[in-house]
Amino acid sequence: MPEGSLAWCRFGAAEPLRFMVLDMASHFSDDKVALKEALRRLRLLITGIEGSGIQHFHRQRTVLTPTVMEPSPEGDQPTEKGRGALLAEVREDLGDCRRCRLHMGRTNLVFGDGSPEAELVFVGEGPGFDEDRLGLPFVGRAGKLLDKMIQAIRLSRQDVYICNVVKCRPPENRTPGADEMDACSPFLFRQLEAIGPRVICALGLCAAQALLGRAASMGGLRGRRFKWRGIPLICTYHPAYLLRNPVQKGAAWQDLIQVRRILNETNHKG
Ligand code: URA
Repeated sequence: MPEGSLAWCRFGAAEPLRFMVLDMASHFSDDKVALKEALRRLRLLITGIEGSGIQHFHRQRTVLTPTVMEPSPEGDQPTEKGRGALLAEVREDLGDCRRCRLHMGRTNLVFGDGSPEAELVFVGEGPGFDEDRLGLPFVGRAGKLLDKMIQAIRLSRQDVYICNVVKCRPPENRTPGADEMDACSPFLFRQLEAIGPRVICALGLCAAQALLGRAASMGGLRGRRFKWRGIPLICTYHPAYLLRNPVQKGAAWQDLIQVRRILNETNHKG
C-alpha cells in the first residue's frame, strides 16, 4: 500500500461493517528513523539499569573510542545473540516445567509462536483445550478471531509473536491463580526481552495485570498507552470475551488502531 494513502479496514465478519481510517502518513527520513531507534534503545537501557537498582553513575573523564558493532548473522540487528537463539534459551530453561500445579493437567506446554523478530507481541492468558492439544497458542475459536484482529491492522500471524502468561492449560479454562502467574511470568518477561518488540498488546485482564504488576479493570486500562520496561503496552479485550460480547468489538478495534499507530511511528526495526 503506498505510503501516505488512507486504508479502510474491516474488523469482525459477524459485526456490522466498521470502517476506520488508518493514518499511514508517518514519514521519517532515514536519519530520523535511526535517531528514533537509538532513543528507543537508550530508553530501554535506562529502564533496565533503573530496574537493576542502579541510581547514578560516577563521572569519569574518559575519551571514548567508537566501537563497531557487527550485524548478527540472522538479522539486521547488531545483537550479541540473535533473538531466535535467546528465545530458544528461554524455552530450554523452561524445560519440562513443574514449577506449579498446572503441569499436572497439561497435554502440551504452550510456549509461544511467531516471529522472533516481531515488532508486535500479543499476550493472552493461558492455553485452552485446542492449544493444550496442539501445543500452539490461540488456535481455537478465540484464535480465529485474533487472526482477524491481526489482519485488520495489515499484519499476518507470521509477522507477530503470540504467547500467554501461563504456559499450561488451567483446569476448565479457569483464570490462572496468582501463584501460577508468579511461577510462569518470569518466562513471559524473558520472551518479551528476547524479542524486544515495538509494541505489546495485552489481551484481557490477566495479561494486563501480569505486565502492569497490578490489578485493574479493563475500563480503566483501555485507551491508554502504558509501558512495559520501556516498550509501549496497549491493553484490550480478550478475543474469547469478544466472542461472548461482540458489541465490544468496536472498542477493541479502537485499541488496535493505537497499536497500528505505534507501529507507524517508526516504520522499521533497525
Ligand atoms: N486463550 C488464551 O488466553 N490463550 C490461548 O492461547 C488461547 C485462548
